[in-house]
Parts: sequence; structure tokens; C-alpha cells
Amino acid sequence: MKRLLLSVVVCAMAICLYDLTSLNAMKMPKQILMNACQGKTKNPVYAPVDFPHQKHIRLGCNVCHHKWTNKKNPPRTCTSSGCHDLLSAKGAQMMAQNSAYNAFHNRTSKHSCLGCHKLKKKEHVAAGPIACNKCHIKNK
Ligand code: HEC
Ligand code: HEC
Ligand code: HEC
Repeated sequence: MKRLLLSVVVCAMAICLYDLTSLNAMKMPKQILMNACQGKTKNPVYAPVDFPHQKHIRLGCNVCHHKWTNKKNPPRTCTSSGCHDLLSAKGAQMMAQNSAYNAFHNRTSKHSCLGCHKLKKKEHVAAGPIACNKCHIKNK
């Protein structure tokens, strides 16, 4: 029984180590300048967003990389084809599943920047900015 337990523990450690090495192998960005929408929208509020990735990773990778299953490869970017690839949506389309605007600003989804910051604020714990110009900082 003890030996069984030991081999289970050793296996778990090996899997962990393997996971860690594959995570280390991919470059984990500390800060990401998000500008996929640059030049695509004439919205006066829009400016590229300097996203502090490192400050977020304690929240768990999958809250944001919610379709990421094969951890051997880096997660796909938000606006990859087949994901939130509808840029510069207008009107009702803005909140469509595939809209980039929705991915970043859905007010009730924990996966979105704005949604999670709002939820955290409601829980009275550390949260990120909610005001447009605190993420979209002009001349950055
Ligand atoms: C918590 C951060 C955050 C806040 C707050 C925020 N945004 Fe954004 N927004 C983003 C990110 C990230 C992107 C994607 C930028 C890119 O990749 O170019 C984006 C993109 C956009 C786009 C381009 C979308 C597209 O499909 O072309 C518009 C327009 C926009 N935001 C408007 C706003 C407005 C208006 C507000 C205030 C109501 C706001 N944002 C608040 C993070 C934020
Ligand atoms: C709060 C949300 C959030 C969390 C949590 C998060 N990430 Fe990210 N990550 C992002 C965003 C947003 C990008 C940029 C995606 C884009 O450019 O569209 C990104 C990009 C990346 C990239 C670069 C992908 C590329 O091809 O450029 C890697 C690698 C990555 N993340 C790994 C991780 C890992 C591993 C974790 C967990 C330890 C994690 N992320 C946690 C939001 C997050
Ligand atoms: C799942 C929740 C969650 C998501 C999704 C999320 N954030 Fe945050 N964000 C936080 C929390 C929590 C903090 C406060 C971090 C801290 O103080 O430890 C924060 C802080 C920030 C800050 C302020 C950092 C500082 O130095 O004060 C910025 C800017 C920010 N987030 C931008 C974004 C953008 C842009 C996205 C989307 C690409 C995003 N966040 C997605 C939870 C989230």
C-alpha cells in the first residue's frame, strides 16, 4: 500500500515537472502591448492597451485562456481566426460571441478584462481598472 502511494506521488510529481518545463519552454510574457484592433476601429476611445500579464497569472491560466487544452503549445491569441476574430463590430454585433469588443468588455463574464475587474470590485478585493481611459491610455 505504501509503495503504491509512493508511486502515485512520484508520478504526480513527474507530471507536474513535465508541465512546468513545457510552461517554461514557452515564453511567458510579462507585459503585452495589445494592439490587434489598431487601425481597425475609428472609435475615439480606442488606444492600444498595455496589459500586465505577469500580474494576472496567479488567477489561473484558464480563466483567460479558456479554450487552451493542449498545454504543449502556447495558448492562441484572443483574436485568432475562429475565436474573437470580428474586429470593429458595430451596434448589436459588438456583443456577439466572436466579437473582439465582447471578449474584452463583456460586463458579466469573468473571462473578459472589464467583466472580471467589475466582479472583483463587487467582491471588494483587488481589481483592475474599469474606466475606458485607464486601459486605453493615449500616446502610450
Ligand atoms: C480593463 C481594460 C479595458 C477597459 C476598462 C476598456 N477596454 Fe476597450 N479594449 C481593451 C483591450 C485589451 C482591447 C483590445 C486591444 C487590441 O488588441 O487592440 C480593447 C479594445 C477596444 C476597442 C476595439 C474593439 C474592436 O473590435 O475593434 C474599442 C472600440 C474599445 N476597446 C473601447 C472601449 C470603451 C468605449 C471603453 C469604456 C466603456 C473600454 N474600451 C474600456 C481593454 C479595455
Ligand atoms: C487575466 C488573463 C490572463 C491570465 C490569467 C493568463 N493570461 Fe496568458 N495571455 C493573456 C492575454 C490577453 C494574452 C495576449 C493574447 C493576445 O495577444 O490576443 C496572453 C498571452 C499569453 C502567451 C503568449 C501567447 C502568444 O502566442 O503570444 C502565453 C505563452 C501565455 N499567455 C501563457 C499564460 C500562462 C501559462 C498562464 C497561467 C500561468 C496565463 N497565460 C495566464 C491573458 C491571460
Ligand atoms: C479573471 C480576472 C481578470 C481578468 C480576466 C483581467 N484582469 Fe486585470 N486585474 C485583475 C485583478 C485581480 C487585478 C489587480 C491585480 C493586483 O493588484 O494584484 C487586475 C489589474 C489590472 C491592471 C492594473 C495593474 C496595476 O499595475 O495596477 C490592468 C491595467 C489590468 N488589470 C488590465 C487587464 C486587461 C487589459 C485585461 C484583459 C486583457 C485584464 N486585465 C483581464 C483581474 C483580471
